Amino acid sequence: MARYAILILPAFNRVYGESAVRLTRSELAVFNGTALGGKAGDIAETMIGGVPYVTFEASELDASDIAFLSNLSSMYALFAMEGELLRPLAVHPLDKFASDLITIQKYAGKTNEHFTRLLLNITALSTDRPSGLLDRKLSVLDPMCGRGTTLNQALMYGYDATGIDLDGKDFDAYATFLRTWLKNRRLKHSAEITPIRRDRTQLGRRLHVTLGRTKELYKAGRVDQVTMINADTLRSRELLKAHSFDLLVTDAPYGVQHGSRGAGSALSRSPLQLLQAAIPLWRDLLRPGGAMGISWNTYVARRDELAKIMEASGLDVLDSADYRAFEHRVDQAITRDILIARVPA
Ligand SMILES: C[S@@+](CC[C@H](N)C(=O)[O-])C[C@H]1O[C@@H](n2cnc3c(N)ncnc32)[C@H](O)[C@@H]1O
Repeated sequence: MARYAILILPAFNRVYGESAVRLTRSELAVFNGTALGGKAGDIAETMIGGVPYVTFEASELDASDIAFLSNLSSMYALFAMEGELLRPLAVHPLDKFASDLITIQKYAGKTNEHFTRLLLNITALSTDRPSGLLDRKLSVLDPMCGRGTTLNQALMYGYDATGIDLDGKDFDAYATFLRTWLKNRRLKHSAEITPIRRDRTQLGRRLHVTLGRTKELYKAGRVDQVTMINADTLRSRELLKAHSFDLLVTDAPYGVQHGSRGAGSALSRSPLQLLQAAIPLWRDLLRPGGAMGISWNTYVARRDELAKIMEASGLDVLDSADYRAFEHRVDQAITRDILIARVPA
């Protein structure tokens, strides 16, 4: 058996404080139970030279194992442990663009970007086809996307991304951000905003962006797509095609105000009521075998309440010990947890 050590990104450590190492262990456990076929054992926190690492043992890691692990949300570096020494192993994250796509936007209420990556990862690994994380252009929906942290992370992985948010200011801010970023990065793209009408009334607005990672790919029509819709997520079934997404990933409203964000009657519905109404609609947007990952504030809804809503909507909740190890403190009003469920194939 060889032993390996993961050094955690300093930024990840700062944000989650004491939870960082534990969340990394939990994320690794889900990677292990899905993509690695359970070959990692003895996942532990180990101090090496006064710095915390997540360590594990495994028979030799092959290129495919390392390709998966390269995308751990907290990964800074991966080492093989050889006696007292650490031998670096080359990692190859999926990242298709510069990291400023994810880090430039800063605003009250932004979901931490490392946490967003963690949620996207474990949701993708929980579909009926975990290898899709690496080898498919997944189609991702965040039905309460704010200013697009999930959309940007999905784009970063080379996936297609769709978001919905009721807040018009978020929609405008995201449209401005994405267009400016594409221009500054000199990436070929088209972007348009169009009204969405039904029966002569306006349901919302749609931003649709098509971009090429290179000029050649753009010309050849091998593009990535980002769509953001400014509308109520409770109308998502009228706005999007059934069974058209592999993954649905969202950080639900916390039930506390962040700065100036989110007035308006629909926004003041309790988070649990909103999820109760939305989850059955969202379920229909996922393909059979697709997965839903929701993070929420446990002060406004208990885990078993939310799990029951998911089950009642015909989803299989993944609730083994590995999936129950993600609860962490965000601030004094928010303790966040994650629930993952799959649409029966
Ligand atoms: C925790 S925030 C998500 C933040 C986002 N992940 C980001 O990083 O920008 C929850 C979002 O849910 C949105 N929301 C609340 N009720 C909604 C509804 N009925 N339909 C669509 N979006 C809604 C809010 O506007 C807010 O942006």
